[in-house]
Amino acid sequence: MELQQFAQAFSEFDNVLITDDKGCAIFYDLADLNILLEIGLTPDEFFHSTVTDNYQNLSPETSTVFQVIQTGQPVLYYEQQLTTLNGFSYLSLSSTYPIMEHGKAIGAIEFSKHFYETKQIKYLDNFLGHKLYRDNHTTYRLEDYITTNAEMKTQLEKARRSAQKSAPVLLTGETGTGKDIIAQGIHNESERYTKPFITLNCSTLTEDNIFTQLYGSGNEAKSGKLQEANGGTLLIDHLNLLDISLQAKLLHAVDIKVLNGEPLDIRYITTVNEDVDKLLAEKRLREDLFYRLNVLQIDLPPLRLRKEDIPLILDFYIQFYNEHTLQKNISYCNEVIQLFYAYHWPGNVRELKNALESAYNNLLGDEILVEHVPERIKKNVQHSTQSIMQNNQSGHLRDLTEAYERLIIAEKLRETDGRLAETARRLGISRQLLKYKCLKYELL
Ligand SMILES: Nc1ncnc2c1ncn2[C@@H]1O[C@H](COP(=O)(O)OP(=O)(O)O)[C@@H](O)[C@H]1O
Ligand SMILES: [Mg+2]
Repeated sequence: MELQQFAQAFSEFDNVLITDDKGCAIFYDLADLNILLEIGLTPDEFFHSTVTDNYQNLSPETSTVFQVIQTGQPVLYYEQQLTTLNGFSYLSLSSTYPIMEHGKAIGAIEFSKHFYETKQIKYLDNFLGHKLYRDNHTTYRLEDYITTNAEMKTQLEKARRSAQKSAPVLLTGETGTGKDIIAQGIHNESERYTKPFITLNCSTLTEDNIFTQLYGSGNEAKSGKLQEANGGTLLIDHLNLLDISLQAKLLHAVDIKVLNGEPLDIRYITTVNEDVDKLLAEKRLREDLFYRLNVLQIDLPPLRLRKEDIPLILDFYIQFYNEHTLQKNISYCNEVIQLFYAYHWPGNVRELKNALESAYNNLLGDEILVEHVPERIKKNVQHSTQSIMQNNQSGHLRDLTEAYERLIIAEKLRETDGRLAETARRLGISRQLLKYKCLKYELL
């Protein structure tokens, strides 16, 4: 196959599909997302489907992908009228190439362009703007969320089910627990995935800008978030950071059904990274707004309550970095995993990713060792007796007891947010003695 031909195929066609040797889609980049709607599959379902199953008139004999896999020969500039399962018909022009290994086709890559009849012109509306995960402003699907934790899997299942409805979703979870992944994942699994996913960041809203953020400014012809999100999803991010005095304005906005004479159809997903009951009790969140936005609540547990996910997430990112960097064989040693298990991860997966990135920056060889892990993590580790034994060189009782004392004090300090008097009271020692020990163990 000529490299030139390939390059030309890239520039002339709108859609790229790669299949395995059974004609099953393993990669696609479609400018023409409507086709998925007309086939009746979500983007995720399309991945595992076989081309011949998606069209009324495609069989192993008529499918270009199947032909190419069977013969090992490309089929170029082939014109074919295709009819989807929903009965939608269009002309497809495609060039399909085999992917060869040891003289055998192990898959196919197909570039295509679709032509509609003029009466189908409305399909071209979305066509220009939308390439999945690029122009709908998202990068994640629900299946990108890595977890093996039972509780988290239940929450993911809730998210998956919520995608089929348009009811508002409230996502709660500490910072870094992956709320963005879930929000985008719900959008991309819903029927709205061809429409925009827009974010309203509550932490930047003020008395002065909230109106233009929501409704745009007529004179500068700048559209607001409501209009931009119409038909799609509006993510109301960090609602807990929106000043209570502005919350009535937001409530008013989410109740609007018609804007500038056009009907508004928006799916609202809201995130908060603090405890909801606390927010309500402290009157930092209006109850009416809370009930309006919380029809379905999905709670993401913090990483410290699902530590079994740590090796999974580490392995995923290390494999990903190994695939995308020049150092291809990075691994980590057992002590690093022990250390990570012992740490409480206040910044959750974001912090874990940062720790890994920082270890990469300190790395000399191929193996990530404890010495490459950020100091902050090592200092704040909640060790078990066993790891104290393992990590202590002398093994003398005095050193071991001190190491243990240090951990107990560190843990109590954390419980009290670092308040010395309260920590001393809980430990039953004087404030002076606590202060002395904190200095000795470098805990302050
Ligand atoms: N379960 C997970 N699997 C893989 N990556 C994750 C997971 N949770 C979070 N991340 C990563 O951690 C970072 C923070 O996630 P994000 O969704 O922005 O958190 P939040 O919005 O809850 O603060 C992102 O880089 C995200 O890709
Ligand atoms: Mg976020």
